[in-house]
Amino acid sequence: MLLSAKAALLPGLALASGCLDNVQLPTLPEARVLDITSSAVSNLTIPSNLTGIIDAPAVDICNVTVTLTHPGDDDHVYVTIWLPRAEEWNGRYAATGGGGLAAGYEHNMLAPVLSGFAASSTDGGITLNHTVNPQSGRWISRANGTVNTPLLINLAYRSVHDMAVVSKQILEQYYNVAPSKSYFTGCSQGGRQGYASAAHYPEDFDGILAVAPALSSELIGPANFWPWIVMRDEEELVPACVFRKFEEAIIQACDPVDGATDGLISHANLLRSCAFHPTYLVGKIALCEGSTYETITAKHARIVQKILEGPRDENGERIWYGLTLGAPFSGIADTVLLNGTMTPKPFVASAGWLQGMLRRNVTNLFAITESEYLAVFETSIEIGSDLFGLDTLDLTNFQASGAKLLSWVGLSDEAINPLNLLDFYDSVRQTFGDDGTVDDFYRLFTAPGVGHCMGGHGPQPINAMPALTLPTKPTHLNTTAREAPRYLCRYPKKPIYMGGDVHDGSSFRCLA
Ligand SMILES: *[C@@H]1O[C@H](CO)[C@@H](O)[C@H](O)[C@H]1NC(C)=O
Ligand SMILES: *[C@@H]1O[C@H](CO)[C@@H](O)[C@H](O)[C@H]1NC(C)=O
Ligand SMILES: *[C@@H]1O[C@H](CO)[C@@H](O)[C@H](O)[C@H]1NC(C)=O
Ligand SMILES: *[C@@H]1O[C@H](CO)[C@@H](O)[C@H](O)[C@H]1NC(C)=O
Ligand SMILES: *[C@@H]1O[C@H](CO)[C@@H](O)[C@H](O)[C@H]1NC(C)=O
Ligand SMILES: *[C@@H]1O[C@H](CO)[C@@H](O)[C@H](O)[C@H]1NC(C)=O
Ligand SMILES: *[C@@H]1O[C@H](CO)[C@@H](O)[C@H](O)[C@H]1NC(C)=O
Ligand SMILES: *[C@@H]1O[C@H](CO)[C@@H](O)[C@H](O)[C@H]1NC(C)=O
Repeated sequence: MLLSAKAALLPGLALASGCLDNVQLPTLPEARVLDITSSAVSNLTIPSNLTGIIDAPAVDICNVTVTLTHPGDDDHVYVTIWLPRAEEWNGRYAATGGGGLAAGYEHNMLAPVLSGFAASSTDGGITLNHTVNPQSGRWISRANGTVNTPLLINLAYRSVHDMAVVSKQILEQYYNVAPSKSYFTGCSQGGRQGYASAAHYPEDFDGILAVAPALSSELIGPANFWPWIVMRDEEELVPACVFRKFEEAIIQACDPVDGATDGLISHANLLRSCAFHPTYLVGKIALCEGSTYETITAKHARIVQKILEGPRDENGERIWYGLTLGAPFSGIADTVLLNGTMTPKPFVASAGWLQGMLRRNVTNLFAITESEYLAVFETSIEIGSDLFGLDTLDLTNFQASGAKLLSWVGLSDEAINPLNLLDFYDSVRQTFGDDGTVDDFYRLFTAPGVGHCMGGHGPQPINAMPALTLPTKPTHLNTTAREAPRYLCRYPKKPIYMGGDVHDGSSFRCLA
């Protein structure tokens, strides 16, 4: 049964609905709840390979949707809350984040709910009543070409806070007891939402798991389009097989420098310091699709060099990091064959972000010139840095609140250069000093060979949530590798090869 409770008709009154009876409307200081619906869902399940939760039994939940608005902002935000039955509930709450340009996805609640949490997600209002795909960036500007700042604020930090405030009130009414602990979990955009929550609303969560955070989204968005600007200027699309050849050559050159030739670049500092010269491959042959070959040219090498260096402004100054050394080029410089023609396949969130910043004025991003690109980069910084920039991430109050922040990042992240996060972590250590304060509230782990949130050649981090929720502070994170497991080291420590089988975790120690 699905009943709707219209707040406009019954302000603040006790309401009846599908599986949440006599609910009092949640209250928020800066937003107004418009509507609550609920419906019972049985036998909710998920393949264990998606969560790392082995053989999780199916659960029954109460599926609650709260709609809210910020008066004057003309937004319509959907918060979805999944409530396991009281006897299956672990007493805790897990808020979940989004990815790309999305503030949240319902499926991100599956893992926490199947682990016993009550969970929630929010669309942040940026699906425009479920009419647009957030990744399109269409929500960033209004029909008349003005920037929709309230929706950018929602994505930046407001929607996670609203979700937490609303969800805690709903949980307390449903279970007759407030959650004993509240957590946030997210990757990429979701990871960044975790950092923003820590900085803006340090009291919302006891613990935040923020993986591969897209800190500085205002720079990452345009920067991930840089490969197409480079290739356009060079008037050449580099085939995927040529990029793969470069990726292999980079790993071959940089992997042994960490002391263990295991196919992984395991020391974060090598992402800065490993010397790789793309020209070394000029004249060599790349094996391509359909048993064809491609001879690598000086132009290919020049394009690769520029992609690795990252975007530069008119004066040649670097604006942002380039592609992670050793990561696949397919993340931000992928091509597909369409009707036999090689065609660019841009990083979806990057193309959507640029379209949003261009206010839908441009239909073919691949036609914009380098100076138009640099202008939209500038626009993105102007609009976005106060909302998404590193300067907004002061963790002082979070540290004082006693809450914990746990992060891991893949050292072969193909979408966001991990140096972004490692540099941020270094700066936080500088701010708080070297007296152990940072270790106490903020821990960061590095995952050699692992891609953006998942994937790649390295052992996959798994189930980091227990590391956050256990009272003991984690010294390492576990990975999926069951035999001879390799643990992830806590930054700035790194895995040092002690001898023996390079595929056996016990051959490594995490040392400074
Ligand atoms: C849930 O799954 C079990 C086992 O497959 C089945 O027996 C039961 O009828 C299902 N319940 C509902 C409400 O679909
Ligand atoms: C998970 O398992 C299902 C079914 O076995 C499979 O179809 C799917 O591709 C797997 N997903 C991942 C991410 O491995
Ligand atoms: C939960 O409710 C929302 C809103 O009605 C609906 O879109 C969604 O599909 C529901 N989820 C499940 C798992 O049934
Ligand atoms: C969403 O729907 C509500 C009510 O149906 C409407 O008032 C509002 O204008 C819509 N918002 C958008 C962005 O479409
Ligand atoms: C654009 O539309 C918004 C929302 O309808 C309105 O508030 C704003 O004044 C409009 N701006 C211009 C320049 O038309
Ligand atoms: C591929 O070619 C077919 C037939 O000429 C055409 O109908 C289709 O639209 C083309 N697809 C693309 C993506 O260009
Ligand atoms: C896009 O169009 C709007 C309205 O027509 C204009 O104000 C704005 O400057 C344009 N933006 C860009 C980046 O060209
Ligand atoms: C990691 O794995 C070890 C050994 O299997 C286990 O004892 C420990 O609880 C795990 N830690 C976490 C945080 O899951």
